[in-house]
Amino acid sequence: MRIAILKESAPSETRVAATPDTVKKIVAAGHGVVVQAGAGVSASVPDGSFKAAGAEIAADGAITSADLVLKVRRPTQTEIAAMKPGAGLVALLDPYGERGGIDALAKAKIDALAMEFIPRISRAQSMDALSSQANLAGYRAVIEAAALYGRAFPMMMTAAGTIAAARVFIMGVGVAGLQAIATARRLGAVVSATDVRPATKEQVASLGAKFVAVEDEEFKQAETAAGYAKPMSAEYQAKQAALVSEHIAKQDIVITTALIPGRAAPVLVTEAQAKSMRPGSVVVDLAVAQGGNCPLSKPDELVETGGVKIMGFSNLPARLPADSSSLYARNFLALLPLLADKETKAFAPHWDDEIVQGAMLSRGGALVHPHFAPKSAA
Ligand code: NAI
Repeated sequence: MRIAILKESAPSETRVAATPDTVKKIVAAGHGVVVQAGAGVSASVPDGSFKAAGAEIAADGAITSADLVLKVRRPTQTEIAAMKPGAGLVALLDPYGERGGIDALAKAKIDALAMEFIPRISRAQSMDALSSQANLAGYRAVIEAAALYGRAFPMMMTAAGTIAAARVFIMGVGVAGLQAIATARRLGAVVSATDVRPATKEQVASLGAKFVAVEDEEFKQAETAAGYAKPMSAEYQAKQAALVSEHIAKQDIVITTALIPGRAAPVLVTEAQAKSMRPGSVVVDLAVAQGGNCPLSKPDELVETGGVKIMGFSNLPARLPADSSSLYARNFLALLPLLADKETKAFAPHWDDEIVQGAMLSRGGALVHPHFAPKSAA
């Protein structure tokens, strides 16, 4: 099949969905690759490197002849219109985002797979783009917080006096949160963390951080079979807020990463809690694109209140595009065998495979994912 790698058109998206390394492997597997000119430039991959790896470079029209279009972000209406009916699409499609763009895929008869819906089973771990990107986002969140913070992270004992270690609180201990804990610890901070999933308690401790949470009966049940958080009751949220309020007031840095798939992010740092922090403190909100864990945060804007800096990053992986592109490209490479006929190498998704079934959003002109099925319980 012919696979097109497009230049991302979303504002400030710096990633690219393939690297010279993955292009080489895709070509070796018997497929053709066409890269839209300039697609890798913002991720430090010049066209020449893609070409040397065996790709064709196309100024325009890369998309029209493709059997499969590979992107980082959801395609635009123009891109969808340029795709041939029956073509495949793999991208982070933001399936819970604006509905028009999803309907347009079905209408254009695109067989679209959402990277977000790759099931979290062990066989699919190498394809899990949510994890590969969240891990880097967690790392980068700490680096950004350290840059915004007017003090040092580690304790320093100098002839001129002692500098105290920064106190860092990570709220939400999924993939991003775990990496944030590890990164803040490496920088020498005193780290604590909270989550509603009981399984995280041990993970937090194993990284050398302190766990802070109300551990009642509801907490013990607060995880879905897929490993995601459940929305918590108003009562639980109130108890948890009371517990963490006192804690937040003593923190220098708060990094929030709490998400519930398909829903608005829970509010974890209220305006009053943010204002209770001492001047110079920093709140980094990774959930800002899903509504935010702090009502004060604004996407990609630095908000200051009472000397506290609140920064909402809508796309942290795009702030280290070389690594995030490379991991995303490898996630796709791991998925590719499930999308091709073994003999003919044609685009032929293995419809009976649970990974393909799980990730498939639209097929043959209809939205087929259970989330979009009529009267869906989701
Ligand atoms: P996520 O991005 O959906 O959410 C981030 C974190 O926020 C989660 O830990 C969640 O429990 C937490 N959260 C939600 N509401 C909260 C609240 N009110 N207060 C505090 N925290 C709250 O999660 P992510 O990173 O996608 O990971 C979810 C789970 O999936 C984890 O257990 C992770 O280890 C697991 N996982 C499993 C994989 C596999 O088996 N292949 C691969 C990747 C992750």
